[in-house]
Amino acid sequence: MKKIVLATLVCGVAAFGAVELGACKGCHGQNFEKAALGKSKIVKDMTKAEVTKSLQGYKAGTYGGAMAGVMKGQVAKYSDADLASTGIGK
Ligand code: HEC
Repeated sequence: MKKIVLATLVCGVAAFGAVELGACKGCHGQNFEKAALGKSKIVKDMTKAEVTKSLQGYKAGTYGGAMAGVMKGQVAKYSDADLASTGIGK
């Protein structure tokens, strides 16, 4: 019983603040293998550093193409540290 409570606590903490990738998959595909809305790069083929740079750039308004506004809305609520630790990319 104690273990279950502990596990729940750990999961809760891990989820807090982390980027919720489920929300991204509708556009980018389950494994980030699609060009979102036919416009984005295939994110799974980007390096982790490129992904971090682009996500932080969307938030700051310094990165992106014609549809950067879509992504700005997606990342606005996250901290730069969260955006650097999504684990997306190769
Ligand atoms: C409503 C659809 C949509 C959702 C949801 C979405 N994206 Fe995007 N994403 C796009 C589009 C469109 C672009 C290309 C924008 C542009 O013109 O720069 C993009 C671009 C990107 C890029 C950079 C790729 C490039 O072309 O340079 C990354 C990385 C990315 N998204 C990650 C994410 C993550 C992580 C999430 C979830 C937090 C997410 N996206 C949610 C539509 C979406």
